[in-house]
Amino acid sequence: MADKSFHPSEADLLHAMRLLVRDDSQHYPNQVIKHQLDILASGQLPEKGIGEQATLDQLAPIVLDGAAKLGSDIAFAHMDPPTPWITWVTHCWNASLNQNLLHPDVSPVAGELERCLINWLTPYFGMSGGHLTPGSTVSNLTALWAARDLSGVKRVIASTSAHVSIAKAAHILGLELISIPVKPTGQIDESLLSEQGQNSALVLTAGTTSEGAIDSFSSVGKFAWTHIDAAWAGPLRFSSQHADVLAGIEQADSVAVSAHKWMYQPKECGVLMFKDVQSANDVLSVNSAYLTKSNIGLLGSHGASAIPLLATLIAWGQDGLAHRIDLAMSNADKLCQFLRQQEKVHVFSENICGVVLWRSSDKSASHILQALPTGAASKTTINGEEWIRHVSANPSINLSLLQKAIAHSLS
Ligand SMILES: Cc1ncc(COP(=O)(O)O)c(C=O)c1O
Repeated sequence: MADKSFHPSEADLLHAMRLLVRDDSQHYPNQVIKHQLDILASGQLPEKGIGEQATLDQLAPIVLDGAAKLGSDIAFAHMDPPTPWITWVTHCWNASLNQNLLHPDVSPVAGELERCLINWLTPYFGMSGGHLTPGSTVSNLTALWAARDLSGVKRVIASTSAHVSIAKAAHILGLELISIPVKPTGQIDESLLSEQGQNSALVLTAGTTSEGAIDSFSSVGKFAWTHIDAAWAGPLRFSSQHADVLAGIEQADSVAVSAHKWMYQPKECGVLMFKDVQSANDVLSVNSAYLTKSNIGLLGSHGASAIPLLATLIAWGQDGLAHRIDLAMSNADKLCQFLRQQEKVHVFSENICGVVLWRSSDKSASHILQALPTGAASKTTINGEEWIRHVSANPSINLSLLQKAIAHSLS
């Protein structure tokens, strides 16, 4: 007889889905969440299971109501956008199928779909191919691995505002890391890039994590390898209004984009692309007796993360993705404008890629953060100074509500 844990009824699945779309009146208060959490935290691995339905009912308050709501009308704090519902369903499909792209025989179509997705994306970046990763941390490491083994790179040059994953990658790969200071706006100071192109990989960032700065691409091609970490700002390429901000990206040797950021995918989903994918794949591949095709990149077993992204792009089209990016940029512009009108408020820079930083000359960032609703802002430190940080990626943001909350935090 079939094991029902692997063969749900329609009613089981409908119940699970209904928990996701309950209206606000059915949400659990914080005390209930805390109580449930305490029970689990103080207990042990249960000896007897309670069954799927009861488990979902028990976990729903903690998992669903205990999480930050990234799509709420005030969520504007981090590089973590809400996800479209088509990705919830396709993730559920992926979990139920559990395909492994390492073996074509257990993922007969999923591998083809990933290739199709990569073929759709690479032209926007002038690259010839690539593969999906769990995010830009892994993409940056893989790109520098290719740089080391293809171009004899011995050192990595990146700005002091580059993401920590660059330092991690240099460390793991045994490469020297040279950190170049940034200009006051957070861009790499190119005047400090000496002509040490030989044996060096230059890493430029499109959308630095703290400031949202985009490095100038004028040094692309002057080094043995240029990698562009476009984890955050890469999707600007899909907007005809904003694509030119990343003009020159197509001259790079490799580009990383985190699809779980501004492409609205659930974690973990990153895209790594190469100018010469054939040569990159040659150095990133290993073969083994149990494999029927070579294993490219860092991961062994990996799932069909292309499917939710492919589904999103089919549902939205380039136009739909561009619309969300344009909306986010316009919201960030409006927020900057509003902040500039406030007394004793200093805005870090104009809006470059949806990251807005500001501070008040008479209230500390911690004080302001505490006065703002949870999820409306985050905090970052630049040159010893604390800044309030907003990241514009939530299509459902209610700007006037956010502006009211900011005005209140300053009063
Ligand atoms: C500029 C930049 N690069 C790389 C990363 C790491 O990407 P991921 O979180 O997808 O591993 C981040 C994450 O915030 C980032 O902002």
